[in-house]
Amino acid sequence: MRRIKLPGHIAFIMDGNGRWAKRRLRPRGYGHKMGVQNMFKVCGHAFELGIRIVTVFALSTENLARPKEEVEELFELFRTFFGKKREKMQEMDVKINVIGDISVLPADIQQSILQMMEETAHCTRGLLNICVNYGARQEIVRAVNLAVAYGRFVDEAGFSSFLLTGGIPDPDLIIRTGGELRLSNFLLYQAAYSELYFSNKMWPEFSKRDLERAIENYSARDRRFGKV
Ligand code: FPP
Repeated sequence: MRRIKLPGHIAFIMDGNGRWAKRRLRPRGYGHKMGVQNMFKVCGHAFELGIRIVTVFALSTENLARPKEEVEELFELFRTFFGKKREKMQEMDVKINVIGDISVLPADIQQSILQMMEETAHCTRGLLNICVNYGARQEIVRAVNLAVAYGRFVDEAGFSSFLLTGGIPDPDLIIRTGGELRLSNFLLYQAAYSELYFSNKMWPEFSKRDLERAIENYSARDRRFGKV
């Protein structure tokens, strides 16, 4: 890649797993499985390129209303990832942080999420935020209620600290695959000045080179943050 301005934080909406599988006459669960593999590949490449923070939208609050069978398949992928990939994450020196209300997940998955977060807490090469049962509106309402409970008027920094992403810089670049042009309740507050990049590729086929293209595109943009 030519010399470029790297985003410090990239967030991914990994959309299109189901359609990718359907086009291959495979079940949607297969698309999610390949989606996880691609998550390793693309996020790993982001860290190799020097990106320090990556956030992925693994399960929205609304996704839980999908047919039971699909939700179960997603849970099974979480079970494998959080249960069996702890060492791999440690080898990659990537700290895992799960964002969202995990209390609705099966107890064994909650347990392995906490274990993975604990066992990668010392990793410093990069931070991978995994949004699970996450919804931005729910996050904002929760933050407002926390501020009220503390009896506090908050400024922007104070409010941000009540969000589930408290302490994490906002995403510089949000990439959505799958051809849809919306944020779907993802990081709505944090995305105020994020650059948005949409790809028509389905998530399982979004390649390392596609990531580099998105970063090159970001690098050529003029971010003014409302100023001139
Ligand atoms: C949207 O594609 C994607 C999801 C609902 C889940 C994506 C999750 C993963 C790829 C990985 C899970 C992460 C871990 C850590 C195990 P879609 O199925 O809605 O696509 P469609 O629009 O084609 O139906």
